[in-house]
Amino acid sequence: MDKSSIHGMWSSRLAFILAATGSAVGLGNIWRFPYMASDNGGGAFVLIYLSCILFAGLPILMAEILLGRNGRTSPVNALTQAAEQSGRSRFWTLPGWMGMVAGVLILSFYSVVAGWTLYYAWLYVLQLFGGAPIADPGATFGALLGDAGLLTFWHAIFMIMTVVVVAFGVEKGLERAVKFLMPALLAMLLVLLGYGATTGNLGQAASFLFVPDFSAISGEVYLRAMGQAFFSLSLGMCAMMTYGAYLPKGISVGRVGLIVALSDTGVALLAGMAIFPIVIQFAIEPSGGGPGMIFTALPLAFDQMGAIFGLVFFALLAVAAWTSSISLLEPTTAFLVERTRLSRKTAAIGMAALTWVVGLVSVLSFNHWSHIRPFGLDLMTLIERIANDLMLPLGGLLIAIFAGWRLSGRISREELADLPDWLYRTWLWVVRVVAPVAVTFVFWQALRPIVRQLMGG
Ligand code: PHE
Repeated sequence: MDKSSIHGMWSSRLAFILAATGSAVGLGNIWRFPYMASDNGGGAFVLIYLSCILFAGLPILMAEILLGRNGRTSPVNALTQAAEQSGRSRFWTLPGWMGMVAGVLILSFYSVVAGWTLYYAWLYVLQLFGGAPIADPGATFGALLGDAGLLTFWHAIFMIMTVVVVAFGVEKGLERAVKFLMPALLAMLLVLLGYGATTGNLGQAASFLFVPDFSAISGEVYLRAMGQAFFSLSLGMCAMMTYGAYLPKGISVGRVGLIVALSDTGVALLAGMAIFPIVIQFAIEPSGGGPGMIFTALPLAFDQMGAIFGLVFFALLAVAAWTSSISLLEPTTAFLVERTRLSRKTAAIGMAALTWVVGLVSVLSFNHWSHIRPFGLDLMTLIERIANDLMLPLGGLLIAIFAGWRLSGRISREELADLPDWLYRTWLWVVRVVAPVAVTFVFWQALRPIVRQLMGG
């Protein structure tokens, strides 16, 4: 008989798909993907990104979901079980521990950026009631980053929104939230895309995003694309493993994995196709946009479209961030519930408070601590790079190796029971060889210049 998790279970296949897509689709798609493409040469970056999703993202996504479902517990415990069932060492719980650290780091800056979106939504609410329009978006954005108190306030509001959902648990919190937030998100994206089409720049945006300029590819571009693929699919930190733990048996892991990967990639590309025509329309160079890109470019369009569009866009960006941040908080909360005597509420509040404090580093990196720049990066970017570009791919690599080489084949075959033999074998071959080689190659490409420098070459 199928056992259920002590945390609750998704009520249907659709509930899982919405929750997992809600986790995947977030700031990563609408805020980060467009500016990453912009900063890393457009089409070449997108092409590498798509290969990363296909050869590493999707197979590892399936591995995470199946490991979670097999264990029915939070990642560290699920991995412990899987290792025991397969007669392997405790070493393989490492991705679970690392994932919890990555989760805290990611949520710490994620919540700060989500706070920006809340603040912008608020500005548009004020504008609807007669407040001043955003006349100079660059100045508005600069003023926000300069104001540590304001950043801290919105960072706190967002963290509270996140903790409320997680405190209510899987069915009453997570599932209920995503069921109406996700359709709303898609509707807004389509509206924005419609506006982008009226600018007449769709073609130019498409060629920026899809025509690769191979001279723009460097080791670093590979690493950024791989990091972005893991970040966008919520992989490598066991968020998907945690959601997999609540997935009823009998639902196809392969199929839901594919749906989630396609939706996530689709939304990123749609967001790019919605945002770049506007960026181009206002004679902003599509390359080199940086993290502030949508906050400085889009308000120019909303000035003409009307404040209500600005409100809807930033509110929905906040919603996308919200359904992702709950999946960043859930793994550690579930872990504490399993390992300590804390209630879900207390565990969630404790982890959120800790993460909020860590987030203050990102808040201060824009103002009081802006002079602290290790490796030439501000502190928020440094945390982002360590978590997204290093910890996530490394976690994903370990999960792939474990699922492919160490996990008992009986478990993976049973979890993927609906796949025909050839497809199961293909999956196994990809997690065994292709994904590890791809991730290692990317690390090597990125490290080579550093190694060369160290060797004095
Ligand atoms: N996938 C989310 C996004 O694209 C971010 C995320 C990363 C969520 C890791 C959970 C785990 O915004």
